[in-house]
Amino acid sequence: MKYKILSNKWRPQNFNQIIGHKYTVKMIKNSLNFKKIHQSWLLSGMHGVGKTTIARILAKCLNCKIGITSIPCRKCKNCLSLEKGKFLDFIELDAASKTKVDDIKIMLDTTKYAPMCGRFKIYLIDEVHMLSKHSFNALLKILEEPPKYIQIYIATTNIHKIPKTIISRCLHIKLSYITLHNIYNFLKKITKKENIKIKKEALKIISNTSQGSIRNALNTLEFIRSSVKNKTEIKKKYIFKLLGILDKKNVLKLAIEIINNDFNKIFNILNNAEKIGIQYSNIVSSLIIFFHKISLIKINQKKKKKYNKISKYKQKVYILSKKISFKDLQFYCKILLQGKHYLNNSPSPKIGFEIMLFQIFQYIKEKK
Ligand SMILES: Nc1ncnc2c1ncn2[C@@H]1O[C@H](COP(=O)(O)OP(=O)(O)OP(=O)(O)O)[C@@H](O)[C@H]1O
Ligand SMILES: [Mg+2]
Ligand SMILES: [Zn+2]
Repeated sequence: MKYKILSNKWRPQNFNQIIGHKYTVKMIKNSLNFKKIHQSWLLSGMHGVGKTTIARILAKCLNCKIGITSIPCRKCKNCLSLEKGKFLDFIELDAASKTKVDDIKIMLDTTKYAPMCGRFKIYLIDEVHMLSKHSFNALLKILEEPPKYIQIYIATTNIHKIPKTIISRCLHIKLSYITLHNIYNFLKKITKKENIKIKKEALKIISNTSQGSIRNALNTLEFIRSSVKNKTEIKKKYIFKLLGILDKKNVLKLAIEIINNDFNKIFNILNNAEKIGIQYSNIVSSLIIFFHKISLIKINQKKKKKYNKISKYKQKVYILSKKISFKDLQFYCKILLQGKHYLNNSPSPKIGFEIMLFQIFQYIKEKK
């Protein structure tokens, strides 16, 4: 059988399998059950949170042979051909590669023909923010008065680039990132079903690095699975190395030296990290997460356990949290968050990171 990558294999095929987006899914299901279905949908949100997946499920719900439903049968001819990507009335266009007005005109020209095998003819335009101005105008025309049998779904990762005239003609579904908790539970389920032996802590790291995207999480899992021998248990140490992430003890060391303003020690840690292939973007992310954690400790949002009952690592974190002011922590977070954007624009990520450090030191110096 043809090998399917995890993200394709585990793409939800009905609304019950969608992770997160509880209220959005409820709203879509209701509109299907009450047969009050908008003709133009705009799905926005970051990569890998379910825009295309939801559009495809909707297409199935509208064209299933049992009738318009929120639970497609997945057995009829229409459901099956939609799942195989062979349904003639489902037309997908990637606007990132087809930006010209002619491309969109050719596609929208076909809206005048009724569906061939389904109840609705459905158009999904992905990365719609890449369309040219003329293409948006062409799209606007069809959005204004679509024939009854037409459904138009447009998806974007960049809502700010979509003209207001387009947004106002669509039902706008805003998909947020998937929570850490949901990603972790999902990965736990998948690793069990796929028979992947992996430690809990290792799964937590994958969830953390996925930045709210299920596709990211599944792709990372796929990458890690392919790089270990069958039946080898995947441990967090291995993941740190493979993904180029600094482990938590070194993040703590680095944070301490940044706060202490000790350049020599910082460069020592960074040089060692570089040798084992740690990426600067990951170092910045780890520091942001770390300083955020300390901020939470400071405002007492974390449950307090008895000091002598916590690990040595946690004791050190706790001591550090006493040493640094809340104001300073927020400044560090701000510099690191801003710096994350220009890390790639620097001559090298190393230089970008060092400039962030200089800004922190400047701040510490001026304070004294
Ligand atoms: N909410 C979700 N629940 C379960 N799986 C999901 C969800 N979102 C994404 N996935 C997984 O990630 C894969 C990619 O999802 P999808 O293609 O829907 O993302 P997208 O939002 O359209 O991303 P892009 O902006 O890159 O096109 C799916 O095949 C599925 O495995
Ligand atoms: Mg998509
Ligand atoms: Zn069906």
